[in-house]
Amino acid sequence: DLSLIDTAKYVAARRAADMVQNGMRVGLGTGSTAAWMVRRLGERVREEGLAIKGVPTSTRTAQLARELGIEVVSLDQAGWLDITIDGADEFDRELNLIKGGGGAHLQEKIVATASDQMVVIADAGKEVETLGAFPLPVEVIPFGWQTTRTLIEEVLDTMDVLGTRSALRMNGEAPFVTDEGNHVLDLHLQRIGNPRQMALVLNQVPGVVENGLFIDICDKVVIGYGDGRVELRD
Ligand code: A5P
Repeated sequence: DLSLIDTAKYVAARRAADMVQNGMRVGLGTGSTAAWMVRRLGERVREEGLAIKGVPTSTRTAQLARELGIEVVSLDQAGWLDITIDGADEFDRELNLIKGGGGAHLQEKIVATASDQMVVIADAGKEVETLGAFPLPVEVIPFGWQTTRTLIEEVLDTMDVLGTRSALRMNGEAPFVTDEGNHVLDLHLQRIGNPRQMALVLNQVPGVVENGLFIDICDKVVIGYGDGRVELRD
């Protein structure tokens, strides 16, 4: 039995997975919604003999895809992708996103950008008027991370935001470590007035590898509802 939120994620994931056609090279996102999509693709591989090459955006997703019998290749082996399907933490009217709640936004952004189209799958609760209620993840290299954090906070003081607090993401007692061996700072901004500017400015700070704002990358959002309805936004 699925909860309402799981149903919403499931129906969105299934609709997007059914957009995938034979022979496609597919970017496979990370997170609980993306996992439903990967399971559905696995089902299609087994039941219809769907032939695809999957490019995972995390070690977690790579493991799941392999277990399900999906052929997994690296981004550089694939070269270019037909479609990437991924979850998000927030999306707005312009289909700009916050991602990285699962800490995979660096690989996710590289893979989505290397795709003809990025389709986001999300439950309706993730739609927002203005991005920023969800803490914005920023991947930083471990060297001098506290200095990087201070620099980020100075930059935030000049930006159109409501909060400037940042927190080092933890994994129990130790700092969280990404697939690329980095740390994540979660920025509690509450409201990001100019996400486009924020995305550019953050990546200028030395030590920042990538921020979780996806601007002009997503082409379509498949929104799932708890009653099983699905809505397309593009
Ligand atoms: C992973 O780094 C994130 O970008 C995920 O896409 C995001 O956290 C969505 O996860 P859920 O589908 O589990 O909400």
